[in-house]
Amino acid sequence: MDKRKIIIFDTTLRDGEQSPGASLTVNEKLVIAHQLARLGVDVIEAGFPIASEGDFEAVKVIARNVKGPTIAGLARANDADIDRCWEAVKYAEKPRIHTFIATSKVHRDEKLRKTKEEVIDLAVKAVKRAKSYCDDVEFSPEDAARTSPDYMCDVVRAVIAAGATTVNIPDTVGYSEPQEFGDRIRYLFEQVPEAKNIVVSVHCHNDLGNAVANSLAAVEAGAGQVEGCINGIGERAGNASLEEVVMNLTTRKDFYNVALNINTREIYKTSRLVSNLTGIEVQRNKAIVGVNAFAHEAGIHQHGVLKSKATYEIMTPEEVGWMGENLVIGKHSGKHAVTALLQDEGFQLDKDQIQQITEKVKDLADKQKSVEREDVIAIARDITHQLSEEEQFVKLEEFAVITGSDMTPTASVKLRVNGELKIAAGVGDGPVDAISNAIWQMVDPSLKLMDYHLKAITGGTDALADVSIKLSDEKQNIFVARSVDEDVIRASAKAIVKGINKALSFREKIHPQR
Ligand code: KIV
Ligand code: ZN
Repeated sequence: MDKRKIIIFDTTLRDGEQSPGASLTVNEKLVIAHQLARLGVDVIEAGFPIASEGDFEAVKVIARNVKGPTIAGLARANDADIDRCWEAVKYAEKPRIHTFIATSKVHRDEKLRKTKEEVIDLAVKAVKRAKSYCDDVEFSPEDAARTSPDYMCDVVRAVIAAGATTVNIPDTVGYSEPQEFGDRIRYLFEQVPEAKNIVVSVHCHNDLGNAVANSLAAVEAGAGQVEGCINGIGERAGNASLEEVVMNLTTRKDFYNVALNINTREIYKTSRLVSNLTGIEVQRNKAIVGVNAFAHEAGIHQHGVLKSKATYEIMTPEEVGWMGENLVIGKHSGKHAVTALLQDEGFQLDKDQIQQITEKVKDLADKQKSVEREDVIAIARDITHQLSEEEQFVKLEEFAVITGSDMTPTASVKLRVNGELKIAAGVGDGPVDAISNAIWQMVDPSLKLMDYHLKAITGGTDALADVSIKLSDEKQNIFVARSVDEDVIRASAKAIVKGINKALSFREKIHPQR
């Protein structure tokens, strides 16, 4: 008998991008979407088109260019959202409109101020409108896990009758326990037999750490689609980690007996790409993709693994495309080694970028004893995340910092702002603070530095400094920028200037008249 197929729905670019600090450019989203297609996900939720111009553009570009998966856009249950969503997804080979409205009592009473009947009415209208544009329509009763099961079933019955082809049951606030969530899905199939003719999906948040377990319990109960994000990113504690869901269903096929489209060998590359582009690091001991996931450090384990890998390995590193940690690049490694390493990390590089990265790696190899994987990635990230000429409203021309045990650190900085040369001096608690204060005197004061983070990439006093900053604009949009350099102060100044340019070019794209 054919195995039951589980549809893997990736929402890294929509729910995942709502993670604090993750803001991706349109091009970065496109690169991730292409990699998700190589991974073999069935559906990519590319964004929330009405949320901003940037989101709309990203969904449209992905719909136009990414072949293979269904491309979905999110829309609240109203005409304007649904129309805007269709405008963006209509270019896809296989478009989907995903519309939602909250159904739990607390959301109905406090947020929507609507009765049960009014909510059902809006849900049905939304599905019908979406259906007037496209056959593939998904509906989600938001906060379903805290909605009374009988009312949830009433909503599901009504939207199926209106034409929904997928009904997604979200645990929006990560409240459910696995057995309870599985029972909810079972109850849904009992009470709404017509649910067998559509796809029942689940979408679990991780507030209590149960997102993956809840998703798997739902699969056991008959759910045919699982939604989640690569590396488990997402709002608050994140969404179900897709690689964990996939590797449970694959490694324990004896238990689940389901079929997937996923090419698991692309998992590690996808994880690294998402981490590199969002700036959200993967915790070392994270299941499947953490750098420790396949490292057998304890002596007793090494002994066992050397005799037979099966003693401690339930899946092989090759299965998830894991490439090991600190492969050392030497002075003579050259372009091919650097390119191969970066391709494995999910970078797509042109000739010019490869040349620049190789030169920098060689420079570093001359200065440092060894250049490790993380150094090469940091250099590549720095070069590939360069802003285009038009996006560089502010350029760092020169700076000098004076500091000493008896004096207040003082910096003077020369910037070119919209072509005009400006010079300012600043003092601060330390040299980085001084240079930041000097820069801030010359740029838009509505931009605020929210966070500054410095890390040495690979130990030692000659290590590369990796600086990431977060800043916000007057509308509380958050921008993240990162820069590496052997000089901590230069890395800091470059990261701040890059962040300012990201904010200014975002403003330019959204409000070109300003
Ligand atoms: O968590 C949630 O409820 C959502 C819906 C929009 C599906 O993200
Ligand atoms: Zn969600």
